[in-house]
Amino acid sequence: MHKKTDDTAIRITTNDIRAVKTLAEPLVCLTAYTARIAQILDAHCDLLLVGDTMGMVLYGMDNTRGVTLDMMINHGKAVMRGSEKACVIVDMPFGTYESSPEQALASARRIMEETGCGGVKLEGGAAFAPTIQTLVSHDIPVVAHIGLLPQSVEDASGFKVQGKSNDDQQQLLEDAKAVEEAGAFAIVIEATIDSVAALITRTVSVPTIGIGASPECDGQILVTEDMLGITGDHVPKFVKHYAQISEDIEKAVALYAQEVRTRAFPDIKNLYTQPAARLKEKAS
Ligand code: KIV
Repeated sequence: MHKKTDDTAIRITTNDIRAVKTLAEPLVCLTAYTARIAQILDAHCDLLLVGDTMGMVLYGMDNTRGVTLDMMINHGKAVMRGSEKACVIVDMPFGTYESSPEQALASARRIMEETGCGGVKLEGGAAFAPTIQTLVSHDIPVVAHIGLLPQSVEDASGFKVQGKSNDDQQQLLEDAKAVEEAGAFAIVIEATIDSVAALITRTVSVPTIGIGASPECDGQILVTEDMLGITGDHVPKFVKHYAQISEDIEKAVALYAQEVRTRAFPDIKNLYTQPAARLKEKAS
């Protein structure tokens, strides 16, 4: 979905994303936390998610629960600065929206006003329908997130595939219908049995964005650092490594260390040269 008039890039809106349901081509989505990464991804992505995975990926936290609203806003601003075409969505972090729709509204307003992003994402199904409804009725576009909910998980052992039993599948379907009815313009489905994600995709009228879900989803998302091979080997099965950037960094840093230690770096090309001035020593 490339939106360009003449040479001016026009940002993809949440309405454009919603309309994708009727198109054959899936949405291309990735996470971005920094301006430079956003700049690189922008030409290729329809949607950039400033995900609270940044807590683990950038800040080395055990889970996403330590991420604050200020962190999300700062990184949201950076991603907006770095991108011009993609629709930017910012995650609502743990503890900033669950208490009441009013709490969610105050947090979402800060995110929207301070970053200028296209909308927010929050984790939760039917139980969060009233919250989604409140945000949408105040003109705040919302992406819902169902299936595996990382904010409910304290450590890696909690990251489990969702929707294995009939009851769980039924609940996922109810969650999807509830958030759609509440006004979410898209639904992220994370780490579920593929057939239930496919069924949800066929059932709801808004686009589904899969991560470990189904190729039938209306779009796909991955954590950028996972797919680039920066986060290490222990990534979920749904991650495909499109590059092994950690290995390249490792090789580059080893060479740099060797060249510094042997004084091979810096060489003449890296120096600002001119004949040395005759400097007088200051009398002490
Ligand atoms: O926080 C995040 O990066 C996410 C994606 C995994 C969908 O929610």
